[in-house]
Amino acid sequence: MDYEIRYATDAEFAAVAELDGASFGFHYGEQELADARLDIDPARIRIAARGPQIVGVSAELSFVMALPGGADVPTLGLTWVSVELTHRRRGVLSALVEEQLRRRTAAGDAAAVLSASEGGIYGRYGFGVATRVAHTVVRRRRARLSRAADPSAVRRLTTDQARPLLPELHERWRRQTPAGVSRDERRWQFLLLESEHLRRGRSGLFHLVHPDGYVSYRIKSEWGEGDPQHQCWVTDYAPASAEGHAALWQTLLSMDLVGTIESYVVPLDDPVQLMLGDPRGVKVTHVGDSLWVRPLDVTQLLGERRYAVEVECVLEVRDELLGDGRYLLRGDRDGATCVRTDRIPDVTLGVSDLGAVSLGGTRLAQIARAGRLQADDVALVGRIDVALLADQEPAHGTPF
Ligand SMILES: CC(C)(COP(=O)(O)OP(=O)(O)OC[C@H]1O[C@@H](n2cnc3c(N)ncnc32)[C@H](O)[C@@H]1OP(=O)(O)O)[C@@H](O)C(=O)NCCC(=O)NCCS
Repeated sequence: MDYEIRYATDAEFAAVAELDGASFGFHYGEQELADARLDIDPARIRIAARGPQIVGVSAELSFVMALPGGADVPTLGLTWVSVELTHRRRGVLSALVEEQLRRRTAAGDAAAVLSASEGGIYGRYGFGVATRVAHTVVRRRRARLSRAADPSAVRRLTTDQARPLLPELHERWRRQTPAGVSRDERRWQFLLLESEHLRRGRSGLFHLVHPDGYVSYRIKSEWGEGDPQHQCWVTDYAPASAEGHAALWQTLLSMDLVGTIESYVVPLDDPVQLMLGDPRGVKVTHVGDSLWVRPLDVTQLLGERRYAVEVECVLEVRDELLGDGRYLLRGDRDGATCVRTDRIPDVTLGVSDLGAVSLGGTRLAQIARAGRLQADDVALVGRIDVALLADQEPAHGTPF
């Protein structure tokens, strides 16, 4: 197929949004279009165009992402990916994504990341599932902290009051959380919008702010004929210390009229379940893949992170798009180096599997059990598996 890959012009923004809407099943009205200019940067929308017709879109975000141990690496986020219905399965997506991955590797990004609409699309481009998302449902009337926390340092604030405080608190949370991605001013503006189409029948935003973290939420009223069962939908969750975490949960659990506190942003291993007298007060009703990671610069991605125990090994990474490579990795809790080498590899694996294990949330041992890596020394694979583990589940924390 004959098309040109380039950045969209500002005048093409509405056409890009129209294509995105048609692909995901909704129309962009005036408000939606204005809000979309905050969701993505109109200057970073890559398109495939046949003359004046846009047949494919893949928008780019640039941010830093925290690795286990706290270092940040420059990262490409992909979003708004869609191809015109009449032009599918002819290689448009492949042409767009492969060009982006090559160009951003040359620009120095350590990895590309995305959330996938369907599971079968991105493995072929070298993306692997690195983090998981959980739908958490806390049954408020059943959930009591076994050791009551002091909520007096928590303030309930309006968006205008909370706005100057949230970025610094979020940044503190992010730097402790593997996979945590940074937010620029545009992202903050988008996340705090109150348009009806973003509220989805829920209230405006409320914010509980502690000196060590915050929780933002919306309420959906459900009066239940005399048995109120409002839903508290947590949209943003950034407790940055154990004290802040306990105080914020103590406050959330005191919301009379609320039946459930629900969220897709409370991490899978959040300690709240262990803090309740009855752990069944928290239910996880769905677990799915969240952040897919595609290594672009292996030396950065592995060399900048920290390792749970001392490790030394040679990894061979199979990568059809950017080229195979062998890497000598040495690391521990204090530092690491990862350099190209000619040495015989201890472990050979695909680049998507390296992406999956890179943030410590997917286990190398599981990839070995799936028969997806080659290694002679089983004991060494076991040590690398433990070294790669992060102290907590990675979570990127910002929808995009
Ligand atoms: C997903 C989408 C962008 C794919 O675009 P496309 O131009 O048809 O993709 P390509 O022709 O480049 O496909 C490349 C390969 O991926 C496969 N593929 C594409 N979409 C797939 C899907 N949804 N599930 C499984 N495989 C898929 C193709 O079969 C092809 O495989 P091959 O290389 O073995 O032949 C397009 O179907 C779309 O717009 N879907 C709706 C919106 C959406 O889900 N976007 C993704 C958001 S994360």
